[in-house]
Amino acid sequence: AAMAKQNPKTLADLNRIIAAAPSLVPGATRAVLGEGPIGAAIMLVGEQPGDAEDNAGRPFVGPAGQMLDRALAEAGIDRTTTYLTNAVKHFKYQQRGKRRLHASPTTSEVKHYRWWLMQELGFVQPKLVVALGATALLALTGQPLPLLRNRGPISFDGQAGFVTTHPAYLLRLPDPATQQTAYTAFVADLQHARSLAS
Ligand code: URA
Repeated sequence: AAMAKQNPKTLADLNRIIAAAPSLVPGATRAVLGEGPIGAAIMLVGEQPGDAEDNAGRPFVGPAGQMLDRALAEAGIDRTTTYLTNAVKHFKYQQRGKRRLHASPTTSEVKHYRWWLMQELGFVQPKLVVALGATALLALTGQPLPLLRNRGPISFDGQAGFVTTHPAYLLRLPDPATQQTAYTAFVADLQHARSLAS
C-alpha cells in the first residue's frame, strides 16, 4: 500500500502515520495505537480493537482487556511496564441493531497492517513478543498457522516470541469449568513468557 512507503524514524512518527491512514474497513472511529514503553521486556499483540477500544482509543480496555489484566496480574506481570498493541489497528464489525459485533479480519487485511506491526516491533525492541491468538500469530509470521500446535516459545525471524490463546477466546468458552481450565493454562503461559523475558 502507498502508506507503507512512508519511512517513520521513530515510534511517534509511525503512530502519526497510522493515525492518519484510512481504515481498511469502514466505520471504525479511529486507529487504536499501541501503548506502553519503548524497550518494554514484553510486547503483547492482540487481534484488533473491539467496540470498547474503538470508543476509548486505547487497546485492551473492554471485556477481553479486563480478563487480560486479571491474568497478567496473576502471572506477576505489571501491565504498565508491557507494550500492548494489536495486529490490526481498526475495529471491524457488523452492525446488529445498536450493537457493533466483532468481525474477524481477513488474512489480506492482517497482511495489510503487518508492515506497521513490524515497524512497531522494531521501535519497541522487546525481549519477548507474545502473540495472543491466531491473528497475532499470522501477523507476526506472515503465515496462517494453527494456534494450538504453535503454542509456547517460538522465534519470529530471530525475535524471541511466545504463542498463547487470546483472552476473548476464554470469554467465548460456554462452560465455566472449561473456561477455568483454559484460564489457568493462559496464566501459566504468561508466567512462562515472563520467565523468558526476565
Ligand atoms: N481484543 C484484542 O485483540 N485487542 C483489543 O485491544 C481488545 C480486544
